[in-house]
Amino acid sequence: MLKFPSTGTATGFFQPERSEAAVYDCEMTNRLPADFPDGAFVRVGLDWFYPPMYKYDAAFNADGYISLFRFKAGRVDYKGRWVRTTRWKDDRAADRQLFGVYRNPYTDDPSIRAETLAKPYLRTVANTTPLAWAGRLFALKEDAHPYEVDPKTLETIGPWDFYTQYQSQTFTAHPKLDPVSGELIVWGYEATGLLSDVVIVTVIGRDGHVRSQTRFKVPYVSMIHDAALSQKHVIFPTYGYVTGLERLKEGKVHWGWDPKAPTYWGVLPRDGSGKDIRWFKGPTRAIIHTLNAENRGNKLIVDAAYFDGGPFPFFPPIDGSRWDRSKAKAYFRRLTFDLGSRGDTYTEEILFPEVAVSDLQRIDDRFLTLPYRYGYTQYYDPSRPFDEKRSGNLRGRIVNCYGRFDMRDRKISTYFGGPTCSLEECFFVPRKGGTAEGDGYLIGMASNYAEMRSELVIADAQHLEAGDVARVILPFRASAQVHGKWVDDERTVYGGPLDFG
Ligand SMILES: [Fe+2]
Repeated sequence: MLKFPSTGTATGFFQPERSEAAVYDCEMTNRLPADFPDGAFVRVGLDWFYPPMYKYDAAFNADGYISLFRFKAGRVDYKGRWVRTTRWKDDRAADRQLFGVYRNPYTDDPSIRAETLAKPYLRTVANTTPLAWAGRLFALKEDAHPYEVDPKTLETIGPWDFYTQYQSQTFTAHPKLDPVSGELIVWGYEATGLLSDVVIVTVIGRDGHVRSQTRFKVPYVSMIHDAALSQKHVIFPTYGYVTGLERLKEGKVHWGWDPKAPTYWGVLPRDGSGKDIRWFKGPTRAIIHTLNAENRGNKLIVDAAYFDGGPFPFFPPIDGSRWDRSKAKAYFRRLTFDLGSRGDTYTEEILFPEVAVSDLQRIDDRFLTLPYRYGYTQYYDPSRPFDEKRSGNLRGRIVNCYGRFDMRDRKISTYFGGPTCSLEECFFVPRKGGTAEGDGYLIGMASNYAEMRSELVIADAQHLEAGDVARVILPFRASAQVHGKWVDDERTVYGGPLDFG
């Protein structure tokens, strides 16, 4: 009998979904507008197949699960499946969990430990982000190569190495698609093995072939979950999520939070090589995601919502102190690097000091690297109603608003998800035929705690206060999303087209 522990996984609405699904012609609250494009909203996330070996494991170690909503001719179909990684198949063959804690092969079952120590990428769960590229669909995690998945059936095809040309052992969960050049810019950290200080940056063409690769070393090994891309630079944050051989041999999860670690930003010229990287130093921060970056003369501007301290309680402080919840609040900030100066510092401005936001931030991807106006993310507004009678004691677990943050006029427009719902990361979908920035829809999943089901919200990105344009109703809880992506049937800047059937 399988039994999930009450810690290490989650309970109630958040317990593992533990099923695969197909729903044809989903129930909807309204018809889709005629200018809503055909395409797919693809989600990658977490769902334990077997319980974790250790209760203190990180949530990010759960098995990868890919799902999608297929939008075609006004109708929406849903399907969801586990990503059949090498690890998933090894567990199934043994009929138990063989893999220890998050990115630590020293904690694996003795039957596989020698192999996973030599090839840590065999431990990937492919549970973070979808990518559509070169006519293929992938599930990504930053500790291994992409896993290819059939877009029609969501059957797993296997790991993909870009025609054997890709050198790094790892691949980012946040590839950057340059809308001007049409190139995909990616990187792998710990690129040459467990704990390695090498980062390899790779440019991949639309044909899936590698155009160029370069490498550099980091000041210290840390999480580089996301980077920023401008027309002239790739900018890499190195910050307080640190690791080391000692902590891995002690059986700890890969990352711990070092509250004293300085932040370094590495600015790599896109027309240069790894030896041209320039490091700028600043105060301790946790930079998990970025929003956009832009070159303005000699100035390099990076916008990102990030934290003063570590946001994840399951990656605890290395000095033994308690996790500091008060520092796990993200604010939109604007960093300015003066590339004409000889200094190694930068300035930081908080753009919306009145609102702590989720760092799952988005823009209209057609404006990545370019002058832009709007950022989108979700946040919690305590002044909005919450129906505790129907939703239970979950007020501490809700994110109830999507915001459009106007970076020019510093104004916020708001969509409220309702008194029984919490919102996952949103994504911007351009209106069919539209070209102006922000002309389109915001989509994202709502967890309806009262109905114990998931609902896909569609709102007009220019009229968020007007509420739902429509909701797609699933008759169950969908697996938890880490990141989603809209893949348009026509607009290749969103990584399409793909044959979703
Ligand atoms: Fe991410």
